[in-house]
Amino acid sequence: MNILVTGGAGYIGSITTAELIRAGHAVIVLDNLSQGHAAAVHPDATFIQGDLSDHAILSWLFDAHPNIDSIMHFASHTLVGESMQHPLKYLRDNTVNAANLLEHATTHGVQRFILSSTANLFNTPRTIPIAEYEAIIPGSPYGESKFFIERMLHWFACTSGLRYACLRYFNAAGGTPERGEDHTPETHLIPLILQVALGQRPHITIFGNDYPTRDGTCIRDYIHVLDLAHAHMLALDHLDHLQSHAYNLGNGTGFTVLEVIEAARRITGHPIPTVVGPRRQGDPPTLVASSERIRQELGWNPRYPHLDDIIRSAWEWHRAHPHGYQSPWSPPPVPSTSSGK
Ligand SMILES: NC(=O)c1ccc[n+]([C@@H]2O[C@H](COP(=O)([O-])OP(=O)(O)OC[C@H]3O[C@@H](n4cnc5c(N)ncnc54)[C@H](O)[C@@H]3O)[C@@H](O)[C@H]2O)c1
Repeated sequence: MNILVTGGAGYIGSITTAELIRAGHAVIVLDNLSQGHAAAVHPDATFIQGDLSDHAILSWLFDAHPNIDSIMHFASHTLVGESMQHPLKYLRDNTVNAANLLEHATTHGVQRFILSSTANLFNTPRTIPIAEYEAIIPGSPYGESKFFIERMLHWFACTSGLRYACLRYFNAAGGTPERGEDHTPETHLIPLILQVALGQRPHITIFGNDYPTRDGTCIRDYIHVLDLAHAHMLALDHLDHLQSHAYNLGNGTGFTVLEVIEAARRITGHPIPTVVGPRRQGDPPTLVASSERIRQELGWNPRYPHLDDIIRSAWEWHRAHPHGYQSPWSPPPVPSTSSGK
């Protein structure tokens, strides 16, 4: 297939692009590099630097590439906390950019669309693990923007026959030898912990240790980025006869912040000091996915369900790229043999 990947220079988009190319698809990446890295884009992909708010670029892109038949839409503002400070940046930009993309895509006859959606749709789940029929109560303007886009897709499907899937990721993590997570600012737990192990941060801050969980810290469901890429490919294969449009994607096992830190200590051999800070606004105690629907309907099965494997793959990438994509490659540091805390 000929697939347009928006945000294909970002973390999940670049790894999915590489997997799509490995499977024989032709990929065009559109990314404004606000968070992404040109070096992350697979060399066999066609890379276009541009912004989804730019109608001229979108028009040119679809005119110049009339054989695009599918879109994977990763490009987005993605920071829950920032969205609480600057709600319109999310409510407006994320939704308008998706609308622009849909407008140009459908005008040019593209009828297949996969959206990166989020667990942030479920801020106060009644049942854990969280299934797709759980009430949607977004936890932030970021989550609300994804919900708007899900609804937009629903109406495009009703009115123009668009075939689509919304993949609601829980916490993406891990890497491949070539690609990993490199955000500025970094807000995700595992890369932050690994920055401590690399000596780039003095400690990791735990946001709240008084939650109603087994050790007082928040519980999250970590899913390997390659398992997300695989889910995209399955959804694409089945897009013409999907039974559902929304799929929750996690491993179905939750780990507390302290358990993730302990696993990282085991893997890196670094003591990883911690400091307890106040709770962050809008952090629910527990988010764990039920991925039964995608397992049953699409036959998805995670290949990397174990937290240690996920963290190890991230650690290997971070050790080999201690300053991410920006700096030249340097040899991994010799791991410390200390096992203390
Ligand atoms: N990382 C996670 O754990 C997680 C969880 C749930 C959902 N998601 C969703 O998955 C998607 C990818 O997440 P990620 O972690 O890879 O984020 P990322 O920031 O690494 O990637 C997003 C990419 O989109 C690009 N981009 C942003 N706005 C753009 C615009 N207006 N025009 C063109 N390009 C633009 C950025 O430069 C970046 O390369 C996002 O939609 C995010 O909301 C991520």
